[in-house]
Amino acid sequence: MKVKVGVVGATGEVGRTMVKVLEEFNVPVTELRLFASERSVGKEIEFKGEKFKVELLTEESMKWKCDYFLFSAGASVSRKFAPIAAENGVTVIDNSSAFRMEKEIPLVVPEVNAYLLKGYTGIIANPNCSTIQMILSIYKLHEVYGIEEIFVSTYQSVSGAGHKGIEELLAQERGENVMKVFPKPIHRNVIPLIGDIQENLFSQEEMKMVNETRKILNDYSIRVYPTTVRVPVLYGHSEAIMVRLKKPYESLEKVREVIASGEDVVVTDDLITPVDVAGKNETYVCRLRATDERSILFWNVADNIRVGAATNAVRILLKHAEMNGKV
Ligand SMILES: NC(=O)c1ccc[n+]([C@@H]2O[C@H](COP(=O)([O-])OP(=O)(O)OC[C@H]3O[C@@H](n4cnc5c(N)ncnc54)[C@H](OP(=O)(O)O)[C@@H]3O)[C@@H](O)[C@H]2O)c1
Repeated sequence: MKVKVGVVGATGEVGRTMVKVLEEFNVPVTELRLFASERSVGKEIEFKGEKFKVELLTEESMKWKCDYFLFSAGASVSRKFAPIAAENGVTVIDNSSAFRMEKEIPLVVPEVNAYLLKGYTGIIANPNCSTIQMILSIYKLHEVYGIEEIFVSTYQSVSGAGHKGIEELLAQERGENVMKVFPKPIHRNVIPLIGDIQENLFSQEEMKMVNETRKILNDYSIRVYPTTVRVPVLYGHSEAIMVRLKKPYESLEKVREVIASGEDVVVTDDLITPVDVAGKNETYVCRLRATDERSILFWNVADNIRVGAATNAVRILLKHAEMNGKV
């Protein structure tokens, strides 16, 4: 396999990590181009020991006939530029929310629904970070027992709001009075709102978890009840999840085996916290408990920038390349 790759939003939290993960996963990139806004033109980013200069994102640059564009520069940038690349025959893997709910656009967690990539060219959407790590810990349960309902409370790190989210927490820690990104102080606090409140009183982030979970598992009967919360953690999202199954499980040990049979999922008796998963590409599950024969509870943690964005995008690239004869 040999691929030419463009990264849009290459200077951001996700973009920089995508470049790192391309290197760590040893993706055979023969040409790499990095794009961002005029703020970052000329900045250098290293890939496999070589320095690459960041270029200005323009409509013209989207006509570069590469194999993949990885986008992580926000929804409005994706809406404007991704279709130009796709019309030019390039496959775009987009981290933003711009296209996730469009019917014809595959929403992919490769461990779960990579089959959508076969024979497909165009825009592929990367799900929301909280959705990806939840899906990875439940998809095998859905295959084996069927899932009826999911109750989930998230504990999402400030890096989920991009670099500016990290800066706001650090500034507040230094005692500075800045409050631009989060609606309340985040230092020594938790905020039970991510994204705007919708007409149904759920937040945007909560509705992403509802709609994206159903689309990825291709089961619109699943009921999802999320509460999404921002916590003063730099990297790593956590989730307290309760799953109500359609069929009763045999034993908690069996449930454990089923969850652990998921790809890139680690079930452990250790106590896992966000600090433990920084830089890891797996989703961790611990504190597995049961109430009745159809209800189970657990704690789920993953690196939101990797599992929730960059690693998922690179895994999509690799699967797509493998399934479409680029290997
Ligand atoms: N953080 C997460 O956990 C996470 C998870 C999943 C998905 N995502 C999605 O990934 C995207 C980026 O998130 P992030 O956390 O990496 O944000 P970030 O740290 O704020 O980075 C944003 C990137 O977008 C670039 N950009 C912004 N406006 C641009 C424009 N008009 N033209 C060209 N480039 C532009 C920035 O370039 P400059 O350096 O020039 O400003 C920077 O490279 C968002 O769509 C976000 O929803 C994030």
